[in-house]
Amino acid sequence: MSKGKILVTGGTGYIGSHTAVELINSGYDVVIIDDLSNSSADVVDGIERITGVRPAFVEGSCANPHVVAKLFAEHPGINAIINFAASKAVGESVKKPLLYYRNNLNILINLLEQMAPNGVKGIVFSSSCTVYGEPDINPVTEQSPIKKATSPYGNTKQIAEEIITDAIASGEPIKSVILRYFNPIGSHPSAEIGELPNGVPQNLIPYLTQTAIGLREKLSIFGNDYNTPDGTCIRDYIDIIDLARAHVKAVERLLDPSTPQIEIFNIGTGNGLSVKQLVDTFEEATGVKVPHVYADRRQGDIEQVWADPALANNVLGWKAETPLAETLKNAWRWQLRLRERGIM
Ligand code: UFG
Repeated sequence: MSKGKILVTGGTGYIGSHTAVELINSGYDVVIIDDLSNSSADVVDGIERITGVRPAFVEGSCANPHVVAKLFAEHPGINAIINFAASKAVGESVKKPLLYYRNNLNILINLLEQMAPNGVKGIVFSSSCTVYGEPDINPVTEQSPIKKATSPYGNTKQIAEEIITDAIASGEPIKSVILRYFNPIGSHPSAEIGELPNGVPQNLIPYLTQTAIGLREKLSIFGNDYNTPDGTCIRDYIDIIDLARAHVKAVERLLDPSTPQIEIFNIGTGNGLSVKQLVDTFEEATGVKVPHVYADRRQGDIEQVWADPALANNVLGWKAETPLAETLKNAWRWQLRLRERGIM
């Protein structure tokens, strides 16, 4: 018997597709909506190959309220939403701020407005450690100060958290779990789904694996003069499957009438790792060399941030479990699969 019907917006994207798999494996029915602006409908096949179940798939943008209304009419009985649909490139958001505000905030508002009339109990929202900016103290807890956003993308996350909080404070009969992710990496161990960036990757792991396979000449490590033990930036890298499982836990809480109406959790490992340590661990885990050079600092980078995940551990009942070497092997397996398929 199904545990419930979950709408996954942005469900063919990187985090969305892995979460769809974990939801199906946990006994939920999944409806995916995605506008395919940064992903492909083939991802639905990958989800089916892993789980043996084909989720319902709707192509469309939740930024259009009519699309959202039609979706709820055609898929009655949705119990909760996980909202991954958003534009997410930090650099692009600086160049096209209005696009980012319009897209990311309209999607959220359209979903929130349609929840109560359609009997949807709750929404999981993808927030980010970006809300903490450059923290004064690490690790950061959910109570750490929210710093002024350094990009329109980051600001959409902060505004979205406020929109949800205000809607619930106004008496809207819905619940929300806000998850502040740290840096998601890796892919499903089957290599059926993974991260597929458009063009030149901006994020570390796709750039690293594309360098390791010879698509790029060298990885540039942005800055080795930071105030950290080896001079490179520190992040909290969280395995994508572990992150996906945090969403399943969040849905369970939304559907449990005894939990608070709104909760916020950091989703990270609790370990800060430098860029250099990550490159070294990748080389050790895979036996593959990654040519790299030290380059100038990247504008807008935070020096160091990592999570205190105690609240997620104790209240959400979730913990990061996958060893880093395993995560990095999975990322490499995915890059090799893309080559086999002739995609890259
Ligand atoms: N890095 C390199 N070389 C590269 C790419 C990245 O050295 O080619 C470094 C960065 O300088 C940074 C670290 O690797 O120190 C991680 O960079 P990513 O771009 O992978 O990730 P960010 O921490 O910059 O960004 C992530 C998410 C964003 C989110 C942000 C919040 O990708 O969506 O965290 O801080 F907003």
